[in-house]
Amino acid sequence: MSGEPPSAKPWIPARLTLPALTKAAKGCEGCELYARATQTVFGEGSAAARVMLVGEQPGDKEDLDGHPFVGPAGRVLFQALEDAGVDRQSVYVTNAVKHFRFEERGKRRIHKKPAAVHITACLPWLEAEIQVLRPDFVVCLGATAAQSLAGSTVRVLRDRGKLLPNPWATALIVTVHPSSLLRMPDRSQYQEQYDLFVRDLKLINQRAA
Ligand code: URA
Ligand code: SF4
Repeated sequence: MSGEPPSAKPWIPARLTLPALTKAAKGCEGCELYARATQTVFGEGSAAARVMLVGEQPGDKEDLDGHPFVGPAGRVLFQALEDAGVDRQSVYVTNAVKHFRFEERGKRRIHKKPAAVHITACLPWLEAEIQVLRPDFVVCLGATAAQSLAGSTVRVLRDRGKLLPNPWATALIVTVHPSSLLRMPDRSQYQEQYDLFVRDLKLINQRAA
């Protein structure tokens, strides 16, 4: 296989169901990230979900836990969904990249953004999830998910909340990543950005009620 770019493709099962994908993804070695991470963190939610939310990659807590959005970013995300009037049971949550990329600083593992090569390698999983779910609405949370599904010319702050063209003919929007809110320097900026995030998420109700 030398010379071929890293890809999850050889691990994608022939039969596309969520349980089959989840199981197969546990063994993925499609790029280098599997080697240092604890485990694959696959998407979760009902197969009947009409809405798919796509984050960047599992964080430290998700890596240890094995489930997406169980850490601080997830708390912001699920609160914002509730405030936007979106039922948590109606969404499927996943990530553009399924293994945690990090740098070690002493005992701490510091999140490191996935590179283009990891995003591309992992895209077959995301595409398979979209094929199985056929969601009415896909929300890309932050630049990594946007790059993965809507291409590298999309700019989150410029294009947030717009319906963007995509190969799945699905209503697709980009918005900020919830962890960007956690980095706001003060309460009032947090509130302002949180309100904009909720406003973007409210678009879900218009398209996928
Ligand atoms: N951030 C993400 O992008 N995904 C998660 O699952 C958790 C934090
Ligand atoms: Fe496979 Fe994606 Fe993990 Fe890379 S990040 S090993 S492509 S599941």
